[in-house]
Amino acid sequence: MTEDVYGGTFRFVTEVLPRFGIEHSFVNLSNLDAVEQAIQSNTKLIYIETPSNPRVGITDIVGIVDIAKANNCLTFLDNTFMTPLYQRPLELGVDVVLHSATKFLSGHSDIIAGLAVTKDELLGSKLGFLQNSFGAILGAQDSYTLIRGIKTTSVRFEKSTETAISLVNYLVNHPLVEEVFYPGLPSHPGHEIHKKQAASSGAIFSFRLPGKAATKIFVENLRIPVFAVSLGGVESILSYPTTMSHAAMPKEEREKRGITDGLLRFSVGLEHVDDLLADFEQSLEIVTTHYKESRSLI
Ligand SMILES: Cc1ncc(COP(=O)(O)O)c(C=O)c1O
Repeated sequence: MTEDVYGGTFRFVTEVLPRFGIEHSFVNLSNLDAVEQAIQSNTKLIYIETPSNPRVGITDIVGIVDIAKANNCLTFLDNTFMTPLYQRPLELGVDVVLHSATKFLSGHSDIIAGLAVTKDELLGSKLGFLQNSFGAILGAQDSYTLIRGIKTTSVRFEKSTETAISLVNYLVNHPLVEEVFYPGLPSHPGHEIHKKQAASSGAIFSFRLPGKAATKIFVENLRIPVFAVSLGGVESILSYPTTMSHAAMPKEEREKRGITDGLLRFSVGLEHVDDLLADFEQSLEIVTTHYKESRSLI
C-alpha cells in the first residue's frame, strides 16, 4: 500500500483488516524497485492512490500494474483527486478503481457517496455480493444529488484547476512558503509521469509554512475558504492534515510522510481567482508581520 495514503484508508488497513488476518506493508510507490522488493509470497493486492493524500505524490500506474501482473496480484486505485474524466486507471490495467464521490463528482459537499468500479465481471459480481451483504447502498435523494452533480464535474474541475495553477504560481514565489506540492509544477518529481497518465494537474495542492504558529495565524486570517476536512466542493476548502484527514495516523508515521505541523492542503473551489489571491496575500502579510515582531512565533 502506498505510504502517502488518505488517513481513513490508513485507519482501515491498520485497525480493521488485521482483525481478519490481512497484513499490509507501506511502501513508497513512486519507487518501483522498492515495490518489487516489498512483494511477499502472500501478497494479493497493491493499493495505489495517485495523486496521493495529502502531498499529491505521483505513482506510475502502468509500472505498478506490470509488477502486480508479474506477481499475480490485483491492483486497486483511489482516483478521487482526478475523477474518471481526467485519469482512467481501468484503461491502464488497474483492476478496481475507487472514488469518493463525496468530492469532485458530486461537487457541492452535500452528500457522502463512493464507488468501486471494475470491468472484470467476476470481480464485479463479488463486489456486488459484498455490497448487498453490507447494505452499502445510496438512498434515492443522495443518488439524485450525485447524478445532478456529475453533470457539471468537467466545467467545475477545469475552472478550479485553472485557479489552482494561479494560486500555486503565487505561493511558489512567496518567501514564507517553504514548499508547494502540485503535480502541475515542472519541479514536482512526478510531473512527467502524471502528464503521461492524467489529463489535468488537478484542483488540489498542499504547501508548507514554517511551523505550527505561523500556520495557525494564516488559517485564522484567511477569510474565503471553509476550514474543513473535505475537498472537491464548489467552495474552496482548506484543511490541516495533522488534525483532520490524517489524525488517525500516529505522529511519527505522519512525520515520516512529511505531514508536519506546517502542512496545509487546499482544494480550490469556484470563487474568483483574484479574490482567492487577495485573500492569500492579506493573510500571509499578517503572518509576515508577526514573524518580524516575534521570531519565536514561527
Ligand atoms: C483520497 C480520498 N479517498 C477517500 C476518501 C474517503 O471518502 P468519503 O468521505 O466519501 O468516505 C477521501 C476523503 O477525504 C479521500 O480524500
